[in-house]
Amino acid sequence: MAVDESRRTLLSYWWVLPVAGTAGAFAYMANYARRVTLDKHAPGPPNFQPGPRQAVAKLSELQGPYSFREFQYRKTPCLLMELPQPTPTGVTVGGRHFAAYSRLCTHLGCQVNPIADTELLALSYNYRAEHPMLGCPCHYSVFDPQRQGQSVFGKALFPLARVQLRAEGDTLYAHGLEPDPRTGQG
Ligand code: FES
Repeated sequence: MAVDESRRTLLSYWWVLPVAGTAGAFAYMANYARRVTLDKHAPGPPNFQPGPRQAVAKLSELQGPYSFREFQYRKTPCLLMELPQPTPTGVTVGGRHFAAYSRLCTHLGCQVNPIADTELLALSYNYRAEHPMLGCPCHYSVFDPQRQGQSVFGKALFPLARVQLRAEGDTLYAHGLEPDPRTGQG
């Protein structure tokens, strides 16, 4: 009899586990949403570490806003992009604007890719943008090349490292690179 009674008491608490599990899941999701939206770091003042002068592209090799060229600088995969607007750390030549970034995602280091099709971006990254972005295929972080590589969506909290550019004649050169924005170390 006593066994039946204690079994009934135990069964009356059947709801505790699912409720606790659901509450835990909501708390996790709320914390994740807060982290990936409010904990983003905006690009600060440039922190370029000088490096060798390296030709990246001739101006004629880019064909308007969001056209790009990949290159390696100090063994780091990078990307030069023409932009419709100037950025504080990019260069402007003859009314055209350029910026360059490390392609190493500041979440776990996969390589970001330019995504020109904003519908594709919305479908595959779940992020709706007005213009092409840089996307990381590993965990779907999105970076805005027009906002100095700032992470605008996903697990990456820090902006991409910026490349220091210089224009000489009809050629763009890299001559510096920021260290890893997460650690401040190259
Ligand atoms: S490595 Fe880029 S989002 Fe995780």
